[in-house]
Amino acid sequence: MSSVTVRVPAKVNVQLSVGPLRDDGYHDLVNVFLAVSVFDEVIAKESETVSVKVEGEWTDQVPVDDGNLAIQAARALARHAGRTYGVELVIRKAIPVAGGMAGGSADAAGALVACNELWGLGLPREDLMEIAADLGSDVPFSLLGGTAVGTGRGEQLAELPTDGRFHWVFAIADGGLSTAKVYAECDRLRETRGEQVPWPQASEALLTALKKGDARALGAELVNDLQPAALSLRGSLARTLGTGQARGALGAIVSGSGPTCAFLVADEEQARQLAVALVEEGVCRTAVPAYGPVAGASIV
Ligand code: C5P
Repeated sequence: MSSVTVRVPAKVNVQLSVGPLRDDGYHDLVNVFLAVSVFDEVIAKESETVSVKVEGEWTDQVPVDDGNLAIQAARALARHAGRTYGVELVIRKAIPVAGGMAGGSADAAGALVACNELWGLGLPREDLMEIAADLGSDVPFSLLGGTAVGTGRGEQLAELPTDGRFHWVFAIADGGLSTAKVYAECDRLRETRGEQVPWPQASEALLTALKKGDARALGAELVNDLQPAALSLRGSLARTLGTGQARGALGAIVSGSGPTCAFLVADEEQARQLAVALVEEGVCRTAVPAYGPVAGASIV
């Protein structure tokens, strides 16, 4: 086999409840993930050395050295197999970079699945999930896809079967936000306000809405504890969220650590209309209609 192509989805967090800061610098979470139909493609080609090329949108913002999470994934997989392998990775990016939609994690998950196949390792998903967790908190979910509740720092996943399909619009901003900085801002705001941070709990109403495929109920239950921090660092997002709300979105939330804003809508037609309106009002760089849940990293 000389080339393997893997398609990997972005995610939105329908609940992101952030617990107190841990000694290791992470936070315990309740992180309810939904994989959505914005996809990166990772192509693994035979090569003597390990390298990466990025195509499509955002190319100038993705590192092509060892700072690239897909390269780290390929190296980690080779280490796990106890061998030295080469690969040329080509990433076709559609997921925004540093956008709060797990784009880097998606590319790492895609590289794991693609290299596992290219190198004929035949490792089971459980092994890939373990390697994924070491690469980043969101990488295991990018492998899994669908809908899942993440605990720990987000890497411990329980699948959540859902009924039906949820329609979204993602308003993509100019420029990203650093996940680490948004978490740090969340801690700072909490400290300034003297908040007692409760242990994060899954919202039963939200899980029920997801299971039933009830978009209206889900829209009312969306939670993101990182939203105040993202808004503090990027004040313009308040207008983006407000515009979507005024245009009839069932729910409006910052996606993960932002700055992408996610709008839950009733159907595909409303998604299309809201995407056009958000761009016309000039509150984002682009607006992308999508749906979820969709499958995790898959060979195509
Ligand atoms: O795991 P990942 O490398 O994606 O995390 C990036 C940064 O986000 C971490 O260095 C940490 O600052 C923050 N983070 C956190 N708690 C989590 C997940 C991430 O504080 N549960």
